[in-house]
Amino acid sequence: MRKKIIAGNWKMFKTAPEAVELVEGLKKELAGMNAVDVVVCPPFVHLSKAVEILSGSGIAVGGQNLFWEDSGAFTGEISGTMLTSYGVKYVIIGHSERRQYFGETNETVNKRLRAALKNGLKAIVCVGENLAEREGGKTFDVVQDHVKGSLAGLTKEDMLKVTIAYEPVWAIGTGKTATSAQAQEVHAFIRDILQKMFDKATADATRIQYGGSVKPENAAELMSQKDVDGALVGGACLKADSFTAIVKNSVPNS
Ligand code: 13P
Repeated sequence: MRKKIIAGNWKMFKTAPEAVELVEGLKKELAGMNAVDVVVCPPFVHLSKAVEILSGSGIAVGGQNLFWEDSGAFTGEISGTMLTSYGVKYVIIGHSERRQYFGETNETVNKRLRAALKNGLKAIVCVGENLAEREGGKTFDVVQDHVKGSLAGLTKEDMLKVTIAYEPVWAIGTGKTATSAQAQEVHAFIRDILQKMFDKATADATRIQYGGSVKPENAAELMSQKDVDGALVGGACLKADSFTAIVKNSVPNS
């Protein structure tokens, strides 16, 4: 049985006081929630405060990106060593918004992923097709390319620290959620690729999250699918009550 993992990707939202309010709210609602792994991923500037407030709550904090060098003349970048020095445990890598707006490729995703693992961070690696690719019947090709390219050269041991997030781009921020059957189909496909790249035990142990318009109302149905092991939540993680409801609805009887 894979433990579910629900992560909130705040993207570029929240000022300093708003960030404190949200993190305090999440702590109040979700501290000690052992049935699910809960991760909050605020913008870099709020990480230190989030770690401080959530200390001892069982809720982990993640970054939304990292650079592949540990230090150097790379203006504007943040390294894995910096993240871990603040008590950050997770990092999102290769989000579609980074692929779309910031030139992220499988190669750069792979470099960032290796840097994350080298620094002892757990990684959430995002993959997924856009609308034209889905409508053109290319979903499986694109997802396979993202998975293979992003995870190239990793060992089975490395994979123990990796979560995959399947995020169909057409479902992100659009209110158009993939049906649970559409999600399950791609998740099962990803697990099959992992089995071919690594082995069955690794494929069975790897958690695959779904992301794209996850809300309190659709979380339980999505999470009930055999190969859906959690969610990467955008819009609905910006309010403590909706993110809490998603976490609670993801495990029966919580
Ligand atoms: P939404 O939940 O706003 O669709 O965003 C999903 C996402 O991109 C999470 O990383």
